[in-house]
Amino acid sequence: MAATRQILVTSALPYANGSIHLGHMLEYIQTDIWVRFQQLRGHQAVYVCADDAHGSAIMLRAEKEGLTSEQLIANVHAEHSSDFADFLVNFDNFYSTHSEENRELSELIYTRLKDAGHISTRSVTQYFDPEKGMFLADRFIKGTCPKCAAEDQYGDNCEKCGATYEPTELKDPRSAISGATPVLKDSKHFFFRLQDFADMLQQWTRSGALQDAVANKIAEWLDSGLQEWDISRDAPYFGFEIPGEPGKYFYVWLDAPIGYMASFKNLCSRRPELSFDAFWNADSSAELYHFIGKDIVNFHTLFWPAMLEGAGFRKPTAVNVHGYLTVNGQKMSKSRGTFIKARTYLDHLNPEYLRYYYAAKLGRGVEDLDLNLEDFVQKVNSDLVGKVVNIASRCAGFIHKGNGGVMVEANPAPELSSAFTAAAPSIADAYEKRDFSRAMREIMALADKANAWIADKAPWALNKQEGKQDEVQAICALGVNLFRQLVIFLKPVLPTLAADAEAFLNVAPLRWNDHTQLLANHQLNAFKPLLARIEPAKIDAMVEASKEDLAAANSTAPTGNGELVKEPLADEINFDAFAAVDLRVALIEKCEFVEGADKLLRLSLDIGDAKRNVFSGIKSAYPDPSKLEGRLTLYVANLAPRKMKFGVSEGMVLAAGPGGEDIFLLSPDQGAKPGQRVK
Ligand code: MSP
Ligand code: ZN
Repeated sequence: MAATRQILVTSALPYANGSIHLGHMLEYIQTDIWVRFQQLRGHQAVYVCADDAHGSAIMLRAEKEGLTSEQLIANVHAEHSSDFADFLVNFDNFYSTHSEENRELSELIYTRLKDAGHISTRSVTQYFDPEKGMFLADRFIKGTCPKCAAEDQYGDNCEKCGATYEPTELKDPRSAISGATPVLKDSKHFFFRLQDFADMLQQWTRSGALQDAVANKIAEWLDSGLQEWDISRDAPYFGFEIPGEPGKYFYVWLDAPIGYMASFKNLCSRRPELSFDAFWNADSSAELYHFIGKDIVNFHTLFWPAMLEGAGFRKPTAVNVHGYLTVNGQKMSKSRGTFIKARTYLDHLNPEYLRYYYAAKLGRGVEDLDLNLEDFVQKVNSDLVGKVVNIASRCAGFIHKGNGGVMVEANPAPELSSAFTAAAPSIADAYEKRDFSRAMREIMALADKANAWIADKAPWALNKQEGKQDEVQAICALGVNLFRQLVIFLKPVLPTLAADAEAFLNVAPLRWNDHTQLLANHQLNAFKPLLARIEPAKIDAMVEASKEDLAAANSTAPTGNGELVKEPLADEINFDAFAAVDLRVALIEKCEFVEGADKLLRLSLDIGDAKRNVFSGIKSAYPDPSKLEGRLTLYVANLAPRKMKFGVSEGMVLAAGPGGEDIFLLSPDQGAKPGQRVK
């Protein structure tokens, strides 16, 4: 094998204001497989990531939840860390951009850029929210579209007619945060002179660092001329203050990629064999790879390499871009239950199923990838359970029963075992090039060969015949050896299955090159089923639970629910809209758990002249539902009924709080009567 490579790998830093979902997981699983492959081959591959913790969205979200920004990002960091760990994503470091290392590196890079003349300043006029005392990013301004007059459109584009415009062109603009009418205000901004790097970028983007489709897209931008990039934001902002410029902060996208370096630097402090300089100096011989989604290409292929170059650091070896995840052929949808959070998936299914499915579908390109839930069940069951695990379970029993668990030394089909060895370089090449779908196809073709051979030899039939025991043992020994080779090839994708197989095989952790040898005269451990089939009912339950996440979010207004985050505060409603809500006092007659639902309680309400059945996502706050019985609460009587898996929810009870245990069912004053209208 070639000399040991030093490889630093990153995935994009997830925003610290929302939950990880299966779309994100595509990227983290893709990267993790690639890193594990490099490690399996004996290279030094280090995988770092972090939460992307800065920006006004995070600040506003924290405020809304009654938390400091620091508290919010700490909570989210804990949630993200366990989501990734449970999906077997093996970061060497999962850090935060809100760290001392990142502050120092951001200041250093900025100062070097400034000293080299790549920073300029000028005054910018922008909308300012006079009530909130802050400048408004485009998505925090709403108003009437200047082209088609559609109301309630964001500051930069119209969802009705598709027009794009400047926020100042909107009619009747208002702040989506406070509702106030914004005023125009000037402020000094800092710019990074991207155009200073045009020649370098022309060259670097065509140097093999990018996929062709990405390089072509970038070429369009390069050809249309590079603009300077606004890297400052005014206080209040959650981020790092620009050195020597009180009240001015680095825009989140400046310090976010520097977070890759900072996470690595933090790791170096506990791993003495790693040298920060060896990986980041301009003359570094280490390799650096960023895995990202297609939506953040310009940040990684223009701004980031230019910042690195300007500050005297090395540039990425390659930026690997993947497409977007769709579910059942469509954009992930909350109402269809296909907006599936990492945790919701893990509550129902084994992470290795998804790791395999993504691997089987991931190529080198930037095309979108579809998670078709029926195909997912079919493919995992047929490939992993039906083909791979099946080989071991077919053979192990005969070895245990007939030979005390010892594999004999025999190779009754050398052409077969050498076909496996011969396939290894091509499989490795596919992994190296991120063509995981080809790797999986080639591995499954080998599994097919092994199964066909075993079926042809039929050890179960031979075993019933006199004097065929040696033959049975020889067939099964080779069967287990072929299984072991498949496990080696699949180990980057299925680390837990590989560990369980190593325990059964009674071998040290397998390395890539181990595929060249066969086990002989070798004692096996007891065989335990390695992977169960996916039961389709589990998929239904996961989809229902994803709908339930939504129901829970809707019925308890400001919950800590991740996805509401990117949206600014709700629009103002007029008094008529408010008065249209028929709010009643309701007596909770009965309250019980809902079988199969993680978050819901079923409430039977007495609303004076009628009874109502309501599902509410408040179980986390009321673990003993009987305690709610006999209590009065507030009830929205004229909400359209909603059909759920568990029955129809007629209206909604009112609860408030940040979520989890802190959800409080609202109560009317004492003496209120069921059915009374609340005004
Ligand atoms: N915080 C920025 C990245 C900063 S990197 C210095 C960000 N965060 S994100 O949470 O929105 O996305 C993280 C990664 O997940 C991105 O690479 C993004 O492309 C990817 N994905 C988010 N949704 C996705 C899908 N639905 N499908 C595939 N990848 C997706 O962007
Ligand atoms: Zn419009």
